[in-house]
Amino acid sequence: MSSDKRNVSEHGWLIEDDDDIPSNPLKNRDFYDVVAARMSRRKMLGGMMATTALAAAAGSVGSVRKAQAADGVSTLTFTELEHGMDEDFHVAPDYESQVLIRWGDRVNADAPDFDPMAQAADAQAMQYGYNNDYVGYCPLPQGSTSSDSGLLAINHEYTTDQMMFPGGPKGKALTREQADITRMAHGLSVIEIARENNSWRVVDGSRYARRITPDTPGMITGPAAGSPRMITTSSPDGIATFGTYGNCAGGVTPWGTVVTGEENVQNYFKGDAAATAEAENYARYGGIGGDDPRYAWGHFHERWQLDKDPNEPNHVGWIVEFDPYDPGAPLLKRTSLGRCKHEGANVFINADGRAVAYTGDDQRFEYVYRFISAGTYDPNDRAANMNLLEDGDLSVAEFTDDGRVVWHPLKHGDGPLTAENGFNSQADVVIEVRKAGDLVGATPLDRPEDVDINPVTGTVFVMLTNNSRRMPQAVDAVNPRHNNLFGHIVELMPPDGDHTADEFGWEFFILAGNPEVALHGADYHSDISANGWFANPDNCAFDNKGRLWIATDGAYRSAGVADGVWACDVTGDGRALTKHFLRTPSQAELCGPAFTPDDTTFFCAVQHPGERSSFDDPATRWPDFQEGMPPRPSLVAVTKIDGGEIGS
Ligand code: FEO
Ligand code: CA
Ligand code: CA
Ligand code: CA
Repeated sequence: MSSDKRNVSEHGWLIEDDDDIPSNPLKNRDFYDVVAARMSRRKMLGGMMATTALAAAAGSVGSVRKAQAADGVSTLTFTELEHGMDEDFHVAPDYESQVLIRWGDRVNADAPDFDPMAQAADAQAMQYGYNNDYVGYCPLPQGSTSSDSGLLAINHEYTTDQMMFPGGPKGKALTREQADITRMAHGLSVIEIARENNSWRVVDGSRYARRITPDTPGMITGPAAGSPRMITTSSPDGIATFGTYGNCAGGVTPWGTVVTGEENVQNYFKGDAAATAEAENYARYGGIGGDDPRYAWGHFHERWQLDKDPNEPNHVGWIVEFDPYDPGAPLLKRTSLGRCKHEGANVFINADGRAVAYTGDDQRFEYVYRFISAGTYDPNDRAANMNLLEDGDLSVAEFTDDGRVVWHPLKHGDGPLTAENGFNSQADVVIEVRKAGDLVGATPLDRPEDVDINPVTGTVFVMLTNNSRRMPQAVDAVNPRHNNLFGHIVELMPPDGDHTADEFGWEFFILAGNPEVALHGADYHSDISANGWFANPDNCAFDNKGRLWIATDGAYRSAGVADGVWACDVTGDGRALTKHFLRTPSQAELCGPAFTPDDTTFFCAVQHPGERSSFDDPATRWPDFQEGMPPRPSLVAVTKIDGGEIGS
């Protein structure tokens, strides 16, 4: 997600993101300690990494680069796109793109046609929502590996209200109907798609088609279910719940369900958080409450008013699981994975059969978490796997200066997680999982977004998108740049491929930014081209060869180039040699990439096109380019013109 009110320097660099004010009360280490630690780590790596100060002092970067990466080093064969920024969507030569569905298009068979001048909440509840983000491909039939027929489960993370209605109202200026339209534009869509002759279509009238909104029935599962802190007007038992919103990224589990992360859910509540019994909890979460929250729902609905329903914020910030193959399936909040600003979750089966999920808490100075299921996966019994995420062990990552990841258990009664510190049960631990992480010594990171497992190498990649608030005295081994405008990627190595181990190793993969500019302190493969660098990694996906496809959020603000996708090998001579594959229209970010099982289609979501302009005078009218039609967040299918595998 990105904010509509940003402070940008005269160079166009993002200084502040008021969507993401840090709320972790940091205990900074001594500056000289961390410099010493960084130096010893550099020594260990054979001097491979360049930090900002070191690179600038040594003048070690800045050679003139070619437009294309060197032939033969990368296994990726496409011709690189140039950096740029314009009103349209672009993909590498020899590839083509097709817009599959856009904001307002029909999802449910009964939905009316989209008319931006005559919108209605009832219609929006049946139409494709706003700001599509995560995209999950689920083959049809369930359990197959079909690449010609499937479901797409798509998050609608948030609304860019001033882009949705004539005159550009937002906040208090929205009418009740407009506020309800924005509410119904949140949640998810499930659509059925089919391919014929290398061209995809949405199956009209599919029995799987579904809109999930903030009103869809659900259930609290796991440690927080039934806690007194979960009791609200609409949930007298603390188990019932309704809907999901703020859904950023997610994953498809090995048993074919979808998990989706509730991220920036702090922006929806009106009132005085400090006056509730949850004051400390809500302060640590950041941004909950106020007279004029970003979203107007609380002006019209008591559910989002803290004086009426003070526990309602405890119902969001979870990982939510549902079965996309059952259009009536409830939303299951998996509280065993903790409550934070979840980017998403990716689930993987460990060699011993237990399910392991990694999840990043996307705010500056927050943590990476790991969940290990109590039960084991049965590939022959889907029903037996459906509740693997209900019960298990949660831990949080500390990154040490000597290259280890130490997973600290987050278990009630262990270490500081006792009544003395306000934890009376495991429910308290998961509801206030950030505070639990603080107490056990987790490492504050530069905004963890996607954390995903490479299916070929078995290593884990963590996208750290940026942190303009990291001061020189707060840099450490794994967050080596202060004022980190461009983000970086870290690779985690489980010992012998065991994802349940207490300790992993870690290594830098890429420090993003422009390697031509010494002050960026960027670090890639030395053959990186003039177009191969990127900024602000957010979502990622792996193809069947284990190559990494990186989607960015914020490069147009931080680095003056359009957001898009860059791909690279993770092993061999082409490791970290990123190549520019596609780019978004003006002021959009690129989200959710997903491949078909055969790698011949790359699905992605274009989010918030024209976000800093207005409905009446938009920076782009992509994808329709029709007078009177605003830009529309839309889902795109990218294929190779010859029908071959993407990137090969
Ligand atoms: Fe919604 Fe973490 O980006
Ligand atoms: Ca983001
Ligand atoms: Ca986003
Ligand atoms: Ca994201």
